Amino acid sequence: MPAEKGDIQNRQDIDLLVRAFYNRLLHDDRMAYLFENVKGDHLEEHFDILCDFWESVLFLTGQYKRNTMLKHLSLHDQHGLTAKHFNLWLDYFNETVDSLFQGNKSKLAKERAHSIAVIMQMKIKEMDALDKT
Ligand code: HEM
Repeated sequence: MPAEKGDIQNRQDIDLLVRAFYNRLLHDDRMAYLFENVKGDHLEEHFDILCDFWESVLFLTGQYKRNTMLKHLSLHDQHGLTAKHFNLWLDYFNETVDSLFQGNKSKLAKERAHSIAVIMQMKIKEMDALDKT
């Protein structure tokens, strides 16, 4: 019988999650080109920032103090993010969480990812509307 999956418990678990998630994203041509700025030398630094972010979200550690929204608005400016990108991102994220973990923190991670993705898309629409005025 397969071993029961545990919940996300600490930074080490988050690191595992982030790496497995990016392994999926970076192997999909529909997504990989969006990550050209962080591929290669910058990937480890990016993973560290993502671990800070998810530790702050799940365990309220408070060490992530950067501007996530601004990064994605500028990514949209550069590449044009669409609902397809967000749906793929979320599908891969949920799939990765479920493949490794189960429990309350895992559920919370998926909920937060979803609500942040909704807000990002709202902000993107607002920015596009402003650009047309
Ligand atoms: C279409 C969907 C998404 C794409 C293509 C995407 C892509 C990226 C890329 C390329 C970066 C690196 C930006 C840079 O450093 O220049 C990044 C950073 C980041 N993303 Fe996303 N992202 C997406 C959705 C999300 C969502 C829904 C979340 C929230 C859970 C999220 C959380 C983050 C965080 C925390 C960072 C680090 C920002 C920083 O440097 O402080 N992303 N993303």
